[in-house]
Amino acid sequence: MRRTKSVLIVGGSGFIGSALALRMRDAFKVFATYYFNPIQIPGVTFVPFDALKKDWVKRVAYTTEPDVIIYAAGRHDLAWAEDRPKEADRIHTSGAVSVLTNSDIFQPKFIYLSSSYVFDGAKGNYREKDVVLPSTELGKTKLSAENFVKGRSLNHIIIRPSPILGVGTGKNYSFIDKLRMSLSRNQTVSLPRNEIQSFAPVHGLVELIFQIANSGMKNKVIHYGGLTKLSQFDLAKQFARRFGFDPKLVIAKPSHTREIADRPEFDYSLNSTQAVEALKVKPFLLEETFDLLDEKLIS
Ligand SMILES: NC(=O)c1ccc[n+]([C@@H]2O[C@H](COP(=O)([O-])OP(=O)(O)OC[C@H]3O[C@@H](n4cnc5c(N)ncnc54)[C@H](OP(=O)(O)O)[C@@H]3O)[C@@H](O)[C@H]2O)c1
Repeated sequence: MRRTKSVLIVGGSGFIGSALALRMRDAFKVFATYYFNPIQIPGVTFVPFDALKKDWVKRVAYTTEPDVIIYAAGRHDLAWAEDRPKEADRIHTSGAVSVLTNSDIFQPKFIYLSSSYVFDGAKGNYREKDVVLPSTELGKTKLSAENFVKGRSLNHIIIRPSPILGVGTGKNYSFIDKLRMSLSRNQTVSLPRNEIQSFAPVHGLVELIFQIANSGMKNKVIHYGGLTKLSQFDLAKQFARRFGFDPKLVIAKPSHTREIADRPEFDYSLNSTQAVEALKVKPFLLEETFDLLDEKLIS
């Protein structure tokens, strides 16, 4: 009889990790980790985990014997990475190194969540083969991890998602959660207008990762973004209009980081053609992403 494959989601208590756990449990034996914020999902075994504690990482790897590891620990927050570059490096790079080296023996498929910030934002519509040249601390930590994963694992996939839209766990708030909380309290929200991204729904990202985990695809970089390109400022305005909040509460501010604040515009949008063609996943327009959010908020 065929054994059900097991997946270990590092960062399973996070916004993306918890959405992944919910999707993966249909087809995998799912182990997921938390660091500070324990959560419960029926059908998912949660374990406490610090990616930097090597003995514990090894113990979890040997207990779970994962066929697939998804490294979804870390934060997608430019200002945090700028203020605490060492912490960002520890979680995004050293943590991934520790998990990969301590699970080598099981030769798992290692899926690493990187970011569009590995690019410099000079041209946008980036494809997988384009030159990477991060100008932010966040992008630098993601690129070091990408390089390590490529050099160490013979069965890896690096996913570069655009900023992801969805509803979080109630412990790790997503961008949409924070936006909705501020607007519903009539608080102003200041967001950059000069940074373009191809925002995508968490539903689409999770579907992509599910397909990859189930496929024989390996040793590739995959981009995943939405079809609509816009700034966080314009996104929040459109969100406010669509969900009945006051759009005037959204105001423009300079870019998030000191390093890139003096450039007029940055375009970190991603071209997802490869993901769409190879994995038959759907690229979403912003309106469709809002429809998915609407369903989630009602449910
Ligand atoms: N959200 C996006 O738009 C987006 C876009 C592109 C890439 N990404 C990348 O995807 C990953 C997940 O993002 P997210 O938005 O889901 O983040 P999140 O909601 O902040 O979740 C982060 C996860 O990492 C865990 N964690 C933190 N420090 C850890 C440590 N030392 N050891 C083990 N686990 C640790 C957290 O555990 P506790 O909560 O239990 O403490 C949580 O499960 C990040 O690497 C991010 O850069 C995110």
